[in-house]
Amino acid sequence: MDHPTHTQHREVILAAPGNEELATLLAEEGHDLVKVELRQFPDGESYIRIHGDLKDRDVTIVCTLHRPDRVFLQLALLAHTARDLGAKTLCLVAPYLSYMRQDERFHAGEAVTSSYLAMMFSQWFDELITVDPHLHRWKSLDEIYAIPTYHVSAAPSITRWVSQEVKQPLIVGPDSESEQWASALASALGVPYVVLEKVRQGDRDVQVSGEILTDREAYQPVLVDDIISTGRTMVEAIHLLKEQGFESPICIAIHAVFSDDAEQHILQAGGQCLVTCNTIEHTTNRINVWQEVVSCWKERPARC
Ligand code: R5P
Repeated sequence: MDHPTHTQHREVILAAPGNEELATLLAEEGHDLVKVELRQFPDGESYIRIHGDLKDRDVTIVCTLHRPDRVFLQLALLAHTARDLGAKTLCLVAPYLSYMRQDERFHAGEAVTSSYLAMMFSQWFDELITVDPHLHRWKSLDEIYAIPTYHVSAAPSITRWVSQEVKQPLIVGPDSESEQWASALASALGVPYVVLEKVRQGDRDVQVSGEILTDREAYQPVLVDDIISTGRTMVEAIHLLKEQGFESPICIAIHAVFSDDAEQHILQAGGQCLVTCNTIEHTTNRINVWQEVVSCWKERPARC
């Protein structure tokens, strides 16, 4: 690397609640993990105190954005507190970047929340690091973010897991958006992939179709998607694979959003096992992407 990187000097790391593990890993690279005190007043408002000197320091806040409406205000307050205490630059490490799926005004009057969030974050932060953001109609985060953004790909970690755990995988993307992940994984593993078609009629109402012509006896299907939310996409893809005579699929997702009883629905539909990356803490986390996040954070170019 021929450009100076941020982490050639000591930075300050702050963990939003629940993000201590990744924050500690970043700090172990020779930086200062500063305690954040965050609690609710009896009326539900947040009390925030940062126990350290931020004046003229480069500061990184670690905050994954699962259940964003709950964490969002605290993140905003934390970022503003850090600025108010003199932070020179602010980097947000958000392993899961939520709100990316509303990337168009599908019906008159709807909010295009992905771009509003990008506008707000671009004002509060100087840089953003995330893992596999849901890029569909937006082709790049640069289309909506005014700050440098870096995204880590979970594909190498998922490739490692599949190559160790699955013999003769057939990678299956349940919809066109998933092709980017399915094709990357299949090409790294040197195995075939297929992409199904999905029509979504409502939050919990999806139809998945497609005919898979591969030899069903020879392959273990592995369904790969970026997000499992209600689980309906996975459930319908499992039904389709089973109807076509395939083995129960292994289901892999990057971000374990899991609304309500999604996990149960997928297992009941016949998913053989459910595996996710640790961008959101969940019992299905089997694929660790922290080292890739740490490397991206360490190697991002220094800001002048
Ligand atoms: C959609 O565009 C995403 O890639 C996922 O397929 C989707 O978010 C999964 O949602 P659900 O689990 O609610 O079907």
